[in-house]
Amino acid sequence: METINWSDLSFSYIPTDYNVRCYWRNGEWGELEVSSSEYIPMHMAATCLHYGQEAFEGLKAFKGKDGKIRIFRLDENAKRLQSSCDSILMQRLPVEKFKEAVIKAVKLNERFVPPYESGASLYIRPLLVGTGARVGVNPADEYLFLVFVTPVGPYFKTGFKPTDVCILREFDRAAPQGTGNVKVGGNYAASLRSGAIAHEKGYTAVLFLDSKEKKYLDECGPANFFLIKGNQYVTPASNSILPSITNKSLMQIAEDMGMEVVRRRIEVDELAHFEEAGECGTAAVISPVGKVDDIDTGKSYVFSKDGQPGKVCEQLYKTLRGIQYGDIEDKYGWVTVL
Ligand code: PLP
Ligand code: COI
Repeated sequence: METINWSDLSFSYIPTDYNVRCYWRNGEWGELEVSSSEYIPMHMAATCLHYGQEAFEGLKAFKGKDGKIRIFRLDENAKRLQSSCDSILMQRLPVEKFKEAVIKAVKLNERFVPPYESGASLYIRPLLVGTGARVGVNPADEYLFLVFVTPVGPYFKTGFKPTDVCILREFDRAAPQGTGNVKVGGNYAASLRSGAIAHEKGYTAVLFLDSKEKKYLDECGPANFFLIKGNQYVTPASNSILPSITNKSLMQIAEDMGMEVVRRRIEVDELAHFEEAGECGTAAVISPVGKVDDIDTGKSYVFSKDGQPGKVCEQLYKTLRGIQYGDIEDKYGWVTVL
C-alpha cells in the first residue's frame, strides 16, 4: 500500500481496496456483492444521470486507543437514507441491509482506518441511485446501493479553528417545500455556484437563508448551523435544512452539559446577540465560525476576535470526539463497536 501520512490527511478521495454493492432488480434487493472496481457500468438513460434520482449518506468510523473500530450512529444514517428515498421515489433500502453493507465495507478496508493518534477517521459514503433506463420523467425500476470508504482529515483545512462564512442573498439552496430536508444530490449541485463564489471571496462556506422570505437562518452548504448565548444552544428550525445527526447529537450533549437547547426560527439580525457560532456535520464535525458577513447588506457579525474557538464550542467538540473515539462513555448507544 502506498504510504499514507495519517496526520496530514485532508477531506479528499483516496482509493481503498473494496466497495460493497447491492442491486434492486425484478422487485427485490439482491445479496451484498464485493467489488474492487471504482467504476459503475450503467445504462446511459439511467434516471440518476438525467433526473437526479440519487441520494447519499455520510458517516464515519474511528479507531480507538483500544484498537477497536467504532461507527457513529449507523442506525440514524440508515433511516435518513430511507427518508431521502421516499422523497424522490426511490426504492427504500432496509435498515439492516444498510448496516450490514456499511460494516462489511469498513471491515474489508480495515487497514485504511486511521490510527487513534492521527485524529483522522474513515469516511463512509453510502449512495443509492436509480439505474433503470427512462426517457420520460419517471422513477426507475432498478436501483444500485453502494458503499465506499476513504480515510479523511478535517473538512475545512484549518480543522478546529474558526473560519468565516458569508450570506449571499441572490442564491438559494433549496425551496421551502422542496428537497432541502433530504440528502439528495440536487441540493449539492444547487449549492456549487454560490459555494465557489464564497471561496473566491475567502469564505469557507455559504450560510443560506430561508428561500421564501430571506429573513431566517437555514444552514451552510455542507453542514448545519448553531449558536451559543450564555447557557443556550440555539439552532434553526426549518423545513429546508437537512436533519443533521451531528446536530442532534450535540443537542443531547449540550443538554447533558446543563444547557438549554432551543430549535426555532432565527432571524438574521439576531446573529448580533450571540457569543459563539459553529457549523456541524459528519465531515465538518464542529467548525467554529469566526464571523458571518452578510455580503449584500454589508453587515458583519463577529464571534471570534482572537482566532480561537469559543469555550462552549470547545467543550462540545471534545465531548463529541471523545464519544466517537471511545474515550468517553457511550451512554446512549450511539456507537457500533466492530
Ligand atoms: N447539512 C447538510 C446540507 C449536509 O450535507 C450535512 C452533511 O451530512 C449536514 C447538514 C450534517 O449532517 P450530519 O451531521 O448528519 O452529517
Ligand atoms: C457529510 O458531512 O457527511 C456530508 O455529506 C457533507 C459534505 C461532504 C457533502
